[in-house]
Order: sequence, then structure tokens, then C-alpha cells
Amino acid sequence: MHVVILGSAAGGGLPQWNCRCPICSLARTESGRVKPRTQSSIAVSPDGERWLLVNASPDIRQQISDTSVLHPREGLRHSPIHAVLLTNGDVDHVAGLLTLREGQPFTLYGTAGILDSVNGNRVFDVMAADVVRREPIRLDYAFEPVPGLTVTLFAVPGKVPLWLEDESMEIGAETETTVGAMIESGPKRLAYIPGCARVTDDLKARIAGVDALLFDGTVLHDDDMIRAGVGTKTGWRMGHVPMTGPGGSIEALADTDIGRRIFVHINNTNPVLVEDSVERDRVESRNWTVAHDGLSLTL
Ligand code: MLT
Ligand code: MN
Ligand code: ZN
Repeated sequence: MHVVILGSAAGGGLPQWNCRCPICSLARTESGRVKPRTQSSIAVSPDGERWLLVNASPDIRQQISDTSVLHPREGLRHSPIHAVLLTNGDVDHVAGLLTLREGQPFTLYGTAGILDSVNGNRVFDVMAADVVRREPIRLDYAFEPVPGLTVTLFAVPGKVPLWLEDESMEIGAETETTVGAMIESGPKRLAYIPGCARVTDDLKARIAGVDALLFDGTVLHDDDMIRAGVGTKTGWRMGHVPMTGPGGSIEALADTDIGRRIFVHINNTNPVLVEDSVERDRVESRNWTVAHDGLSLTL
């Protein structure tokens, strides 16, 4: 199985367009201390020929341009991307669908709950219904979006997308609106969970034995955004478990059997983004990799 991390940042990317926090500022310099990063998406293929895109970020055009295996290869119009899967309806995971217009056939997969947020917004009709099929997938049901690749979606603690929040919103609910994807090719297994509010025993049992885990690395501490002085929201309020502190993912997953541990969906306020930081050191010493764009794995 081939995996390419197309975008390793959370919503907003790095640097974020309007942010002068120390990390965004460093990402605008040539110092090499902070690598710029695009928004959350991966591509997966069983054979290097046919690819599944998991999440369609607002940066998808640049991500495809920068990734030669995703370039058109035959005739006048072609794409190696055969299918797109959504793990939630957040802007950073769906806005890129608008770039995938132009009459290119593919199938769009997600839970009914996630596809509803796309179906309910007519701007997405730029993906013509007779060209792009939208296929709702039940939780815990194995399907094959690309021949040779089996995917199973499972609920993880989360919340509705920010743009759908209302008074009835519940944080940490395990519903169809935030899912993880278990992606399998032959004996190899990859778990992709870019958003998760809490590490539960169910989740640990689910991912035990995977060859690689790509996991929510939005915040280091629950209060990263407050510490950085750029916002008032905690990780929990945004539906993201912190890497460290009470209930943090590093500790919670320490005893689970996992091949490679990689943080993705990293917010621009997360100190681990600084290459020479003590925070980066600390995370790496616990066997976690902080993803950068273009990081690829062969499982
Ligand atoms: C998130 O992951 O919390 C969302 O992408 C936030 C957003 O939509 O800006
Ligand atoms: Mn996000
Ligand atoms: Zn910033």
C-alpha cells in the first residue's frame, strides 16, 4: 500500500493567511525551522496507479500539482484519482471538492451524515450528478473504493462541522459525523483518524495491530490556542484530543500495538511544528512522527 500525506496541517494551513503567531511567522521565513504545510488530506493506493483521496482540502489543486503520481497520464483528460472519501464535513476536508469539477468521473464516499452536508449545499453541484456518483457508506461496513483497497469507516468521538454548529451540538458524541477510516490492502492496515475528541477503549481495540496510524495532531495541549493568544477555544471545544496532558493521545495510545505513529492535521499554533523545539523532541522521543507535506509511506 502506498500512502502520501498531501497536507499535514489543520484548517487554515501553515502559515494561516491572517496569522502572525510565532509559528506562522517562522513558516514565512527561509530559516527552515518551520516547514509550510497545506491542509489535511492523504492519498492511498494499492498499486501506485489508482488512488483514493481521503479528504479534499482547499489546497487540493496545489497538492495534486506537487504530487506527480496524481497527474493525468492518458489521453487529453484523465486522473489517477478514482475515488474521494470524506471523514467529516469540515471546510478543510470538503472545500477541495469544488476544484474537482471539470467533468472528471469519480465516486464520492462518506457516511450519509457526512454526505448530507455536501448534498445540502448546492455549490457542490458543480460536481455534476451524472459524472460524480455520491455513495453513502454505513459504519462498520467494508467497501472497495479502488480495486485492491478495502475501507471500513468507524465512528470516533467528535462533533458536527463548525459551520453546522447550533445549540443542540454535542461534543465528543460518537456519531456518523466524525469517522476514522481503516484502510487495508492485502495484510497491511492503515488507520486514518484526522479528527478525534477523545481516545476511548473502543478506539484502542479498533486500531491495535495496525501497520501505521495517522492521528489527530491538532493541538499539543488542550489550551494551545489560548497560550498562543490567538483564540479562546480549547482542543476539546474544537473536537480534538491533545497530544499531551490529561487524556492526551501519546499517553493513551502508549501501550497499543501500532507500527508507525504519525501526527497529521496539525494546527498552526502547535509548538511541535518548530523543528528544533523541545516539544518536537518530546513527541519524537515517544516514537511519534510529526508529518510534513509529501511524507510518503509504503506498507
Ligand atoms: C477542525 O478541524 O476543527 C475544523 O477544520 C475547524 C474549521 O472548520 O475551521
Ligand atoms: Mn479540520
Ligand atoms: Zn499562526
